[in-house]
Amino acid sequence: MSVLIKNGRIITATDDYVADIFIEDEVVVAIGKNLSHQADTVIDASGKLVVPGGVDPHVHLEMPFMGTFSSDTYETGTRAALYGGTTTVIDFILQKQGNSLQAAFDEWSGRANGNAVGDYSFHMAVTDFNENTKQEIKTMIEKEGITSFKTFMAYKGALMINDTQMIGLMEEVKKHGGLINVHATNGDIIDYLVLKHKNEGKLSPLYHYLSQPEVTEAEASERFVEMSGYTGCPGYIVHLTCEGALNAVRNALYKNQKVFVETCIQYLLLDASLYEKNFEGAKWVMSPPLREKKDQATLWAGINQGIVQVVATDHCPFMWEQKLMGKDDFSKIPNGHPAIENRMELLFSEGVMKNKITLNKFVEVSSTNAAKIFGMFPKKGTIAVGSDADITIIDANEKHSLSSSTHHMNVDYSGYEGWELTGKIKTVLLRGKIAIDNNQCHVNKGYGQFIKRNKVSQYI
Ligand code: URP
Ligand code: ZN
Ligand code: ZN
Repeated sequence: MSVLIKNGRIITATDDYVADIFIEDEVVVAIGKNLSHQADTVIDASGKLVVPGGVDPHVHLEMPFMGTFSSDTYETGTRAALYGGTTTVIDFILQKQGNSLQAAFDEWSGRANGNAVGDYSFHMAVTDFNENTKQEIKTMIEKEGITSFKTFMAYKGALMINDTQMIGLMEEVKKHGGLINVHATNGDIIDYLVLKHKNEGKLSPLYHYLSQPEVTEAEASERFVEMSGYTGCPGYIVHLTCEGALNAVRNALYKNQKVFVETCIQYLLLDASLYEKNFEGAKWVMSPPLREKKDQATLWAGINQGIVQVVATDHCPFMWEQKLMGKDDFSKIPNGHPAIENRMELLFSEGVMKNKITLNKFVEVSSTNAAKIFGMFPKKGTIAVGSDADITIIDANEKHSLSSSTHHMNVDYSGYEGWELTGKIKTVLLRGKIAIDNNQCHVNKGYGQFIKRNKVSQYI
């Protein structure tokens, strides 16, 4: 099986040139001008942008959470990701407190293996760090290729670990060449504010936002980077939303610490005024919540300053029926919003086309940096000879709009209903196969492979 992509404008994190790409089986075999290779399929990409398939390192598929499950399965979620130009996702396994990491790994693998359409990997969320869990870290890294360990500084009673556990985990993970991901918000302050608002009868989605003020994120981010600096364990803050938290990272970077930052597309584009729409605000109930316009400006600046390396989604969709679980109490609204399909087109339209970021930066934050940080580069995250042929072709000028009536995510609303975008993903290849073309998916469930990852990359 071979494919020749002709005359596309190839954009990587560093390059921008017009050439042909010859693909055989699953990988890129040659790149050059006027290639004469004979191929089974020829794609004319004249006038189009050819970028590496997206890597979204923060998604939650079929995740048991807040008394329900996120509504995209591995099949529907990874297929929707492909429609949106994202060829690899990293999901989060959640250890059940009292159980082993291996048990959680087996449970998640059981749901994903044979069902995913696109490629996937896992972070391991350690929710109960103890002597037994400690022994499993090395196995996860060296045998299973799971090199990143997620921690929660909030969601007490279910997911949160304390600082004693955090330090212990950091020491163990550092010893074996891994990295710690963190949901950095102060769970104790949040729990206090949630209870206070409920006692005062303040129960609408607005109070979800008001229960997680900026200080809860800034404080936890600062504590996390200090612990990461003290132990020397590389850290990665997921879904960072605000100025206060980013400033905590800035201070760590002055000390040359290895701390990476992910924001999510929604924090760049949406703001907290959406919580004033009464219960409709539940569509955007997520943690941390949407912030203010000044925070959006900080995040765009952080991307251009190179201190925000990744734009992910934290895709965690729930049907409207599920959101209604919190109709009378904001603390029961399942947290999360859908975006796995929309991330790259939103970032392209709102970022590149509105001159907030360059094309190279678009590739860097939507694909290359995540592949590097999480040990998949150069297999994933770039277009180069020997790399997996994961390729997204974009018509930069095509206009279209987003809607739940046309999206492929298994969720009955869109957080971006009616948004008019410029730039449409036309064709997507995953490991050399045309996965998406003409708005049709051409690969089946089971095509998606589990990607074992390397230790923290030497590339970043
Ligand atoms: O609201 C969110 N973010 N839901 C998913 C779980 C998490 O905290 O990432
Ligand atoms: Zn989180
Ligand atoms: Zn998340």
